[in-house]
Amino acid sequence: MKDSLFFLRQWAMAPLRTAAVAPSGRALARLMTSEITPATGRVIELGPGTGVFTNALRNRGVAEHNITLVELNPHFAILLKQRFPAARVLQMNAADVSESVDMQEDSAGAVLSGLGVLSMPTGVVVKIMQGAFRCLGPTGAFYQFTYGPRCPVSDGVLNFLGLRSERIGGTFFNLPPAAVYRITRVPSWPNEALYHRAANNASQRELGASNR
Ligand SMILES: C[S@@+](CC[C@H](N)C(=O)[O-])C[C@H]1O[C@@H](n2cnc3c(N)ncnc32)[C@H](O)[C@@H]1O
Repeated sequence: MKDSLFFLRQWAMAPLRTAAVAPSGRALARLMTSEITPATGRVIELGPGTGVFTNALRNRGVAEHNITLVELNPHFAILLKQRFPAARVLQMNAADVSESVDMQEDSAGAVLSGLGVLSMPTGVVVKIMQGAFRCLGPTGAFYQFTYGPRCPVSDGVLNFLGLRSERIGGTFFNLPPAAVYRITRVPSWPNEALYHRAANNASQRELGASNR
């Protein structure tokens, strides 16, 4: 079955979770992976779907055994295991990624996120970002795409976790057009704070309104 039809079926079964009716295009995949090289080391991908970004990672020379794919949908996870047999495929919630026995702290150079974070509650976004940065080394970066005009991780969440975002580019050759943001640690911020500030303690005022 063609990927677009398979993807559409997954969307029909779980529209909010799938967050798109079709896989991302190649131009967006190239942009998402444009700063990644084999020297990046381990790459974690959250919400890989049919593996469009994973394929682009391979095209950039990242060895499959250096890629960890975290996908909640079991149908996508089975497909990913077939397509990328040497990659580590974890069928689990991205919000629990740092609790997985398969994950080690500071072990990754980059996290790519295909998650639809705009449709997620703030507490879940905080948990995903905390978990991802626990896995990322000190200079590691988190890449997130969006169809919207701003970084989809709100300023409130970024400030709360001591993170900052920068738009690295956009493409009209995607349906819909999309932009990619690089999220990194603010260098002066104490990293333990990022790890230990629990999502539950984040008051709505502290996190501010979302960027939507
Ligand atoms: C917008 S699609 C992106 C798919 C792919 N990265 C692409 O760009 O074509 C979002 C993906 O995230 C997955 N997903 C949604 N919530 C998730 C979660 N909490 N943990 C892991 N994966 C999740 C969905 O199953 C889907 O594969």
